[in-house]
Amino acid sequence: MVALTQSTQTISNPGRLTVETIEIAEATTAIRCLDWDRERFDIEFGLQNGTTYNSFLIQAEKVALIDTSHRKFEQLYLEILTGLIDVNKIDYLVVSHTEPDHSGLIKDILQLAPDITIVGAKVAIQFLENMVHQPFHSMIIKSGQRLDLGNGHELEFVSAPNLHWPDTIFTYDHKTSILYTCDVFGMHYCDDRTFDENFTAIEEDFQYYYDCLMGPNARSVLSALKRIQKLTIGIVATGHGPLLQHHIPEWIGRYQNWSLEQAKTEKLVALFYVEDYGYSEELVRAIAHGSARTNVAVELVDINNAEPQEVREIVAQAAGLVIGMPPQSNVVAQAALNTILAAVDNKQAIGLLESGGGEDEPVYPLRNKFQELGLTAAFSPILIKEAPNKIVEQLCDEAGTDLGQWLNRERTIKQIKSFDSELEKSLGRISTGLYIITAKKGEVQSAMLASWVIQASLVPLGVAIAVAKDRAIESLMHVGDRFVLNVLEEGRYQQLMKHFLKRFAPGADRFAGVKTYPAASNESPILAEALAYMECEITTRMDCGDHWVIYSTIQSGRVAQVNALTAVHHRKIGNHY
Ligand SMILES: Cc1cc2nc3c(=O)[nH]c(=O)nc-3n(C[C@H](O)[C@H](O)[C@H](O)COP(=O)(O)O)c2cc1C
Repeated sequence: MVALTQSTQTISNPGRLTVETIEIAEATTAIRCLDWDRERFDIEFGLQNGTTYNSFLIQAEKVALIDTSHRKFEQLYLEILTGLIDVNKIDYLVVSHTEPDHSGLIKDILQLAPDITIVGAKVAIQFLENMVHQPFHSMIIKSGQRLDLGNGHELEFVSAPNLHWPDTIFTYDHKTSILYTCDVFGMHYCDDRTFDENFTAIEEDFQYYYDCLMGPNARSVLSALKRIQKLTIGIVATGHGPLLQHHIPEWIGRYQNWSLEQAKTEKLVALFYVEDYGYSEELVRAIAHGSARTNVAVELVDINNAEPQEVREIVAQAAGLVIGMPPQSNVVAQAALNTILAAVDNKQAIGLLESGGGEDEPVYPLRNKFQELGLTAAFSPILIKEAPNKIVEQLCDEAGTDLGQWLNRERTIKQIKSFDSELEKSLGRISTGLYIITAKKGEVQSAMLASWVIQASLVPLGVAIAVAKDRAIESLMHVGDRFVLNVLEEGRYQQLMKHFLKRFAPGADRFAGVKTYPAASNESPILAEALAYMECEITTRMDCGDHWVIYSTIQSGRVAQVNALTAVHHRKIGNHY
């Protein structure tokens, strides 16, 4: 365990951005940029708890800075850094990966200290050459390579490709036993605590972050974990959220278990994209997110940086394929497309999308080729007309879910059939009402018919609803989200039920032709035909196998027909709604 805490300095500005510095080990300072109110991060992230961007300074005989910060911290970060050290004395800037939230200030550092040597993976250095447009000293490192800073601070680099970014590396300091991991083991969580002492406060954010960013590359996570197995780790210095010190085996164990779980899932969806071309990666990530909801494994592959053998292997393992169109002029990507075409088989499902980079390979001729080879189109090609907004993201997310559901169709039928008949009959005696849940978040809205709804508390007034993990509306039902619970009326519910049970195409407007008016709290649609409605806010989600049980408090409600009754749903068997 390492000796902690010396000074905490905080500078504020009106945008709720603060910076905190703290000595976390001998000659090692964490510079944590706290972004208290950031609402949205990557495409699929609805942030609840802000985020932090963590950078680290090691001052041994030689001085190394590990990562910088987001551009929005330009002034605050540079003020703090120059207060800690004369930047011209920094010998190395280690770039764990080149995502802008950590590399956004590299250009500023280079301007202040042009003699600094930038240390990173080959891809990272290449990327930075294109980004900063000025010559700089660089050191390309490989896994296992060491860099001696003196006074025992020997840095060892561990390559961790695809852990959210293709050029990711970890850095391990043999003197302090700190492993610097940037995005990996991070979370979007902002508070004053530097460390992870409060496990329960952060575990949900830790998992959500893993699900969104690491789960899609579970196999790569397992390879990286193997590489750090031999290290004795005192602190995991992450790039986002608290640093990990108090529960390291538990955090790493969770990554291991979740990734093993993902990797052994029978069905795999391989999603091919071209790094830095159009909106290829963000759209493919949204599709991956939607598929992962259906409990299939997903693997993202940057076709520019994948060996043909790797592409062939992953296509052979996959049950579903998604391709973000590469540029026609990119010879490497075109060759990868041919490799994919040669490796597919007719049991696979395919989904294609335009990447919006301006010179996309056209979608339809490729779609036709896959159809001729016998593959099933899991969703219609997604065409990009403009920079993707949240509605396009939702469309991609729902397309991914459709693909996953298609792959799981036999398993679902098997599960339904595997019930013991006495048990299923007795379970079927549980009866409920009928409801339509409606939710809106920004421009995106959705709805579903629900029967597994029950009052769950008196003080505060609260309800619990079981929502299948692969429901389209699930992404709008996280802690802090608001929705409307519409109660259907006995004898008058058939039309609404029929409407909301339709199979909606990805991104379809589920309210077309339905009379609604907006709820006061967040504009979720209230159905004009509902018997009653309640405005609810989600406070807890409980993982219950294939469903989330979502507990919400009720803010307000209204009844349209005081004497009318709620529609009742009786079932014969308990293995379906
Ligand atoms: C009578 C009935 C009750 C249902 N109750 C629930 C429920 O409580 N929770 C749930 O997740 N799905 C429930 N469903 C399933 C969804 O309403 C429906 O399949 C869904 O709207 C379509 O999936 P999607 O919204 O993900 O496209 C029910 C379906 C029926 C027919």
